[in-house]
Amino acid sequence: MMQDDQKERVGKAAAELVRKDMTIGLGTGSTAAFFIKALAEKSLNPRCVATSEATAALATSLGLDVVGLENVKKVDLTVDGVDEVDSDLNAIKGGGGALMREKIVASISEMVVYIGDSSKLKTKLGAFPLPIEVSPFASPAIQRKILDLGATAEIRLNGEMPFVSDEGHWIIDAAFNEIEDPYELDVLLNMTPGIVAHGLFIDLIDKMMIARADSIEELVQN
Ligand code: A5P
Repeated sequence: MMQDDQKERVGKAAAELVRKDMTIGLGTGSTAAFFIKALAEKSLNPRCVATSEATAALATSLGLDVVGLENVKKVDLTVDGVDEVDSDLNAIKGGGGALMREKIVASISEMVVYIGDSSKLKTKLGAFPLPIEVSPFASPAIQRKILDLGATAEIRLNGEMPFVSDEGHWIIDAAFNEIEDPYELDVLLNMTPGIVAHGLFIDLIDKMMIARADSIEELVQN
């Protein structure tokens, strides 16, 4: 599949950024998995922190050294995927449900590099439903608030039960279609009690690597 080929190439290209003795933040999802595999094949043995239980299990199975945040002073480089990214390098993440740990690890990283196939680059964010992680208690009130904003508000399911994040919360997927002002929405969601994290990643990305048919395009934060 063309997208898998692009994901693999960009994952391998990102692994070239890793240097000896770095502490690496490992993202979650199918693109990040290609990075993790490429990283494990290099003999650098970096110390890693994982953004999800799934990623920790994958990385450990490949022989990488995964430690908790209590064991690292800082993260030198985090490499992760995106669901959508725009030309300002703002992104939607959390399709895999790992948004909270992904945002925490990005926020303590010296360098944040996100990777994606060419389908992830958008003129406007919002066609991909925005994952909003909530306290289960607050979820009915948050759903009403999101509906008032003009979006849909579906509680993510795992079978017939709500999906539960690694942090023990529920996720509401909010399809906005087009998010007119991601900065304004970020502030509004950050201010809402009961929302513990959301998938708008604003001003967090230093470099975006996008796989093209036969090259890797790099977009860098000014
Ligand atoms: C995980 O919660 C997400 O943020 C992923 O990074 C995102 O969904 C990208 O996944 P793929 O690389 O599988 O498209």
